[in-house]
Amino acid sequence: PKDVGILAMEMYFPKRCISEEELEEFDGVAKGKYTIGLGQKYMACCDDREDINSFLLTAVANLLEKYDIDPKSIGRIDVGTETAVDLSKASKTFLMDLFASAGNTDVEGVDSKNACYGSTAALFNAVNWVESTSWDGRNALVVCGDIAIYAEGSGRPSGGAGACAMLIGPNAPLAMEPVHGTHMTHAYDFYKPKLDSEYPEVDGPLSITSYISAIDASYQAFTKKHAKAKKVASLHGNGAAHADAPAFSLADVDYPVFHSPYGKMVQKAHARLVWNDFMANPAHPKYAAVPNRDAILAQPYKESLLDKTLEKTFMAVAKADFESHVELSMKCARRCGNMYTASLYGGLASLVSSVAPQELLGKRISMFAYGSGIASSFFTIKVKGDTTEIAQQLDLVNRLAAMKVVPCQEYVDSLKLRESHHLTKTWTPEGSVDNIWPGGYFLEEVDAKYRRKYRRA
Ligand code: ACO
Repeated sequence: PKDVGILAMEMYFPKRCISEEELEEFDGVAKGKYTIGLGQKYMACCDDREDINSFLLTAVANLLEKYDIDPKSIGRIDVGTETAVDLSKASKTFLMDLFASAGNTDVEGVDSKNACYGSTAALFNAVNWVESTSWDGRNALVVCGDIAIYAEGSGRPSGGAGACAMLIGPNAPLAMEPVHGTHMTHAYDFYKPKLDSEYPEVDGPLSITSYISAIDASYQAFTKKHAKAKKVASLHGNGAAHADAPAFSLADVDYPVFHSPYGKMVQKAHARLVWNDFMANPAHPKYAAVPNRDAILAQPYKESLLDKTLEKTFMAVAKADFESHVELSMKCARRCGNMYTASLYGGLASLVSSVAPQELLGKRISMFAYGSGIASSFFTIKVKGDTTEIAQQLDLVNRLAAMKVVPCQEYVDSLKLRESHHLTKTWTPEGSVDNIWPGGYFLEEVDAKYRRKYRRA
């Protein structure tokens, strides 16, 4: 199969969100701390009426219906989430209700988990399956999503919620390119060791340097492999004519997309790629205005991770490009906040919804996936076909605008409701079904054996 990639996309987000500006006032923090300091605008929220399975059921059911996909035509489903409600039973098995009812139980794949990275692991699995000898000719689904909530404190304004479902197969308009740069290592930056709570344990400063060091290492692994692949191609008479293939840089990317824990982190990440390009080719005329070049070039790597002046220097160098090329992929993040596993793919959906299909055609999109703990990858997607239908079916701008901004107290009350039911059995959600979009799944009850029952609004 050729050009395996994303054939169709659907985003799900709850009906309600809160304003970060109001949250600053509500939390009694300095004005600008969340909106300017973290670059946050709104974040989506839900109460005990929804859980990760209802999110994913809605995303998949809507994808199947909007694109008129026959459930029998799906041969694999890979799920990525870190909000699973069961340590054994995969969220994928709940989705099987939509396929088994159509007589299709021959569907490979289960859940992948590692913080926000599970979606990318799922995507790689699905794409690899289509490209493998065990492929049965049918399409795959990648389904991801999370409810990102934090205990009271500095993490809370970086929450959010949302989910994404993608149809994967050959001849895709959004075709995966073969080179991936990956960086995986062990760190305790963000993790969920408390089974009696939905909230993570976070080392905030470490999570930020971990993200930055991961983008450095993934990007460098990618550029190295890319140069090698180009060199091999040129030796075989394909591609560039010279054996010393030029290194990959941001000049080869039209639209960089990043996992977005909060808006400012994406700006820092993009600036860090520009720093990487500068370090690889400081003589390039586009870096003529970079101040203190010699000091920057001589700086030990570890110091560079903590240097605020360095960060500000490259954020200034990258600013115009960020505003013209990266902001386009931030629509979901600006409205829904962090969607963990769905964040990067919400970025892709935002981009496809922001750039005219004829403009997008032939362009290259880079993707940076980051999951704390740490798992991260840098890879690229080539736009090889018409994205009109994807943009139309997503209807993202209108749907994000239709979300209801509710008071921060309602958010805190929703979290309290979730806390009160966590790990308990025999309960009925108290949250109103009015807060579910038409056609959305919701949790109806949890019985005496912790079994969850869902219904569709
Ligand atoms: N006006 C403008 N800016 C302000 C203000 C203000 N009143 N007050 C603070 N700031 C700025 C700070 O200067 C700082 O800017 P900088 O990033 O340029 O240094 C920024 O706001 C953040 O403030 P801090 O005090 O450094 O950090 P805070 O205690 O608010 O915590 C953090 C931020 C660590 C991101 C926290 O929200 C958190 O733990 N979130 C969850 C973990 C996370 O998202 N990590 C990122 C990657 S991991 C992942 O994907 C989950």
